[in-house]
Order: sequence, then structure tokens, then C-alpha cells
Amino acid sequence: MTRPRITRSIEEVIAALRDGQVVAIPTETVYGLAADATNECALELIYEVKGRPRRNPLIVHFASKELAWKAGSEIPDTARRLANRFWPGPLTLIIRKQAAVSPIITAGQETVAVRVPSHPVALELLKFFPRGLAAPSANRYTKVSPTTAEHVVKDLEGRLDLVLDGGACAIGIESTIVDCTQPQPVLLRPGYITVEELEQTLGIPVMFRNVGGTLSPGQHAVHYAPDAKVHLSEPDKIDHLIAGLRDRGEAPLVISAQTPHLGTSVTWWQIPDDPAEFARRIYGYLREADAVGFKTVVIATPNQDGIGRAILDRLEKAAQSPGTT
Ligand code: TXA
Ligand code: MG
Repeated sequence: MTRPRITRSIEEVIAALRDGQVVAIPTETVYGLAADATNECALELIYEVKGRPRRNPLIVHFASKELAWKAGSEIPDTARRLANRFWPGPLTLIIRKQAAVSPIITAGQETVAVRVPSHPVALELLKFFPRGLAAPSANRYTKVSPTTAEHVVKDLEGRLDLVLDGGACAIGIESTIVDCTQPQPVLLRPGYITVEELEQTLGIPVMFRNVGGTLSPGQHAVHYAPDAKVHLSEPDKIDHLIAGLRDRGEAPLVISAQTPHLGTSVTWWQIPDDPAEFARRIYGYLREADAVGFKTVVIATPNQDGIGRAILDRLEKAAQSPGTT
């Protein structure tokens, strides 16, 4: 295995998946590392290629909600209402699993994560897999999720054969995850679909559980992490932080909306004003920072309204990275 090959042929990808291979596929959020949900050898391979611990379960993707519900033993009203409102789209629902769903997908749990993505190429492909395609994000474990086919090639060189190219992901950060197995739904991962939208649809409050309990995604110390050390700062404290870093001889990259007070050793990339645009580009920025070779990145915390909460969630996890230097 050498460099993964990029293809636009859905037929080729169908054949590879039927043959038990794992293939990276586009979705509207991020690229996924897909395998036929009924093929246990292929499911095992996902964990190997990604370098992910077996205790961290996978999301199963379907072409329609009718097919997704077949993976569940009971479908709560909350799940139905959210699916009716937001599918196809960037929302993952946790429901109780049907007996036939492989324990390799669910990491031995009694629940399963299901999603109907809205990317047209993903939907077309999924029509050929009525029992679904299991797919985590197509990055190495703890690293930044890929939002282009080229990102996948770079991340999984030597570990994967094929990437289905569907262009740059329109949303750019992972789906919102809601646990619907309890009477009160619980937000496990913020995303493009906001708590306000969830609550409006359900007419009841949605709890947030970011840490605690083994089910919450992304709770390991390092996650969504570039190689560079990431510092987060309130926009009005950024100049102070930069000054401190420069005193220590560092030459940071600054990613912010407003122009910082630049010294000679500081580089500035401007954040777009539109939060959705920022979400779409954030993983690209982190990758680019590594590619250019920055050791230190300072990022201004976004406004926490709407999708800002999901962006902040990913940036806080990126900032827990020790960096490589
Ligand atoms: O946007 C997305 O959700 C992308 C695209 C490819 O669909 N997928 C994605 O998958 O982000 P992954 O595996 O990187 O993140 C899914 C998270 C994992 O952290 C996992 O722990 C959690 O969902 N998860 C999966 N099944 C679960 C379950 N039954 N209960 C609780 N959490 C679950
Ligand atoms: Mg992931």
C-alpha cells in the first residue's frame, strides 16, 4: 500500500466496499473512513487504519431514516422528531440497537449511533448499502478531521487504498450528536445544528454532557489536535499573550478576526466574520499551520452563539495538545 488513490467513481468504491475494504468517503461534515456495516473484518480494519481504540464506537450512515430505524430496537419520539427535522444532515442520533448490529460498531454497547448525511455523493453510495456504512472521521486517532480528499491522502498514506472525492466539505466540523435513549435528550457533541434548534424542534430542554461517563465522544486528553501547540485567547487579551510568547522567543501564528499588534516575528491569518465560514475552514487552518511549520498558534475564541459553541469545543480540545516541540 502506498499513497491512497483519489477516485470519483462510485462504482469502483461500491466494488471495493463489497470486497471488504475500507474506503474514505465524503460527507457534508468531514470525510469518513467507511466499511460495510455487515462485514466484521472490514469493521475491524477501520480501527486498525485509524489507530483507534476498540472501545470507541462508530457511527453508521444510511440513505434514509427508514433504513436507519432498522438498526434500532425502539425509536423514541425525540429521535423521530429530530430526524424528521434535520435529516439528511449533520446530526447523529444515539438509539438502542437492534440485535443484528455488530458489537464491533457499538464497542459492545447496547446503543448505536445513526446518521443520514446530506452529501449527494454519500447518499448515492449509501443506496447500495441498505444496512449502512460504518464510518468514523477519516483522520488518524486524536488528529484533525479531514475536509478534503487531499487531507485524507496525507493522513492515511500507507494505510489506505482509496478515497472517494466529493470536493471540500460544506460544513467542515463533525455532526452534532444527541443521545435519545433517555426521556431527556442529551447533547454529546456540539455541531452545526445548535442546542437552540434542537430544543425548538423538541419543545423540551436538551442537557449537555461533555465529560463524565464513558460514552461522551472526544473526552481523551488530546483530540482534534495539530502538531503545533495551540493557545486560545479572548480577543482583547491576545496582544498580551503574543507579547508573552515573543518574550519566550516564540514566533507564533495568530488566527483572529481583528488585526493583532504585530511584531516582526508574528504571522497573522484573518478569521472570516461569518461563523459558518470559520467552521468550514478551521481544520484547514490547523493543517496549514502544521504544513508551514508553525510551532505555536494563537487563536481568538469565537463568539459562542450558534455554531460558535461547536467551534469553541473543537478549539478547546485542540488546545489540550502538548504540541510536538
Ligand atoms: O460528522 C460526523 O459525525 C463524522 C462523519 C464521517 O459522519 N463522523 C465522525 O465520527 O465524526 P467519529 O467516530 O470521529 O466521531 C463519532 C463519535 C465518537 O467519538 C464516538 O465515541 C461517538 O460518536 N459514538 C459512536 N457511537 C456511540 C454510541 N453508541 N454512544 C455514544 N457515543 C457514540
Ligand atoms: Mg473523529
